[in-house]
Amino acid sequence: MALLEVNNLSKFFGGLKAVSAVSFDVPQGNIKAIIGPNGAGKTTLFNLIAGSIRPDCGSVRFKNSSIFGLPPYRIAQRGILRTFQNIKLFPNLSVLENVMAGMHVKGRAGLAAGMLRLPQARAEEAFISEKAHEMLAFFNIGELAKRNAAHLSFGQQRAVEFARALASGPALLLLDEPAAGLNTQETAQLASQIAHIRGKGVTILIVEHDMSLIMDISDEIVVVSSGQKIAEGKPSDIQRNADVVRVYLGEE
Ligand SMILES: Nc1ncnc2c1ncn2[C@@H]1O[C@H](COP(=O)(O)OP(=O)(O)O)[C@@H](O)[C@H]1O
Ligand SMILES: [Mg+2]
Repeated sequence: MALLEVNNLSKFFGGLKAVSAVSFDVPQGNIKAIIGPNGAGKTTLFNLIAGSIRPDCGSVRFKNSSIFGLPPYRIAQRGILRTFQNIKLFPNLSVLENVMAGMHVKGRAGLAAGMLRLPQARAEEAFISEKAHEMLAFFNIGELAKRNAAHLSFGQQRAVEFARALASGPALLLLDEPAAGLNTQETAQLASQIAHIRGKGVTILIVEHDMSLIMDISDEIVVVSSGQKIAEGKPSDIQRNADVVRVYLGEE
């Protein structure tokens, strides 16, 4: 079953076709990658799916219903969560609080009840804190719980970001260049973290430049160039695809 279905999706910026009639599916439980040269339209594609920019035409369906043109918070509520190229943690909060912040999206008691410290809100807070500790343990960073988020290595920040993302219980995670700025060891950790997240039943759509990482973790790859999809297939097929090789050689 396809969790996400993108059909003929297009976005123009003035005369520029940033995304031009792109179609692909993301099957439930898969890790799907989008690759392509700089300026190919990868981030724009993510923005269109997450709702931060409005598509011009086409369709986007998630869990069999249209999310076309919905605002980002409505799309997030349906279970699509994205991480950004630059990690955005709250620097003045602890690691635990950062993860808890990711879960308040789903809180039932509401902001007013929370501020008034009503019993329902307190029970929810305890539940959220317990769940956040669980997420930190899941990513092997339990000992960082009380550490200020400003005092973390880049790899640790990435782990906290993933813990926060997973804590909100997404069905689909959009990762935009998660290996950017990571060293070899951190990239290897990232690969196992992503596999770990998928093991939890979360479907993943990833944009990434690190080819060996992509070839290693992806079930399927979509290649875009100048806003258009030029190839789609398994990593072994993509490596042999003449159009793909041409696009990458052309870049250098
Ligand atoms: N908000 C915008 N306004 C105008 N042009 C944009 C905007 N966002 C992206 N573009 C252009 O759209 C094209 C695709 O950009 P982008 O999706 O960021 O590419 P990628 O992520 O593949 O590097 C680029 O030519 C870029 O300059
Ligand atoms: Mg980009």
